[in-house]
Amino acid sequence: MIIAIDGPAASGKGTVSKKLAAHYGLRHLDTGLLYRAVAKALLDAGYAPGEEARAIAAAKAIDPARFDETALKRYEVGEAASVVSAIPGVRAALFDFQQEFAAAPEGAVLDGRDIGTVICPNAEVKIFVTAAPEIRARRRAFELRGRGEKADEAAVLADILARDERDRSRSTAPLLQAPDAHLLDTSALDIDGSFRAAIALVERMRR
Ligand code: DC
Repeated sequence: MIIAIDGPAASGKGTVSKKLAAHYGLRHLDTGLLYRAVAKALLDAGYAPGEEARAIAAAKAIDPARFDETALKRYEVGEAASVVSAIPGVRAALFDFQQEFAAAPEGAVLDGRDIGTVICPNAEVKIFVTAAPEIRARRRAFELRGRGEKADEAAVLADILARDERDRSRSTAPLLQAPDAHLLDTSALDIDGSFRAAIALVERMRR
């Protein structure tokens, strides 16, 4: 079974995806880490994330087996990832890895922005996870503070709105709910409630 989870930043899709993967005994790929790794490679080398040729070269060179998730989850890396992910050549360079991951015989859980629309259009289960921007900003600020980063909620909200706009308006593989994806709004749900709602959707959709 392939479970495709998409949604905007801090919607809860990552947590739901991890828990679904553990529940069903499937491997999980957080595809945001791929774009974050490209962004971090550029930032570390002192380049702007919008430098197309360098971003494409970095996308071809990333090694997911060696990802440092803590470093990739940093705030500024996420912002830069939103910029590099709008470059079509970067998306093309990361395409095969994601499709191969999903092609394992037992299936997999993948989460990102274009899993149900581009990477796994034939996934049996597609869920689009969302939450009100203010709720997402609060969650993201809480998460950042928990990791020792400074976070002003109003500034995080402004960045989330800008990131939503950038992810939704890019021409290649924009953030979009697939027509056959089920909407899961986690605004009023805690982690356990979100997980239980996701399980109910999976059980309803799986063939
Ligand atoms: O989910 P995240 O915050 O780790 O993603 C970081 C950025 O990467 C996000 O702003 C857009 C991009 N991204 C994408 O374009 N496509 C994906 N499948 C996953 C992430």
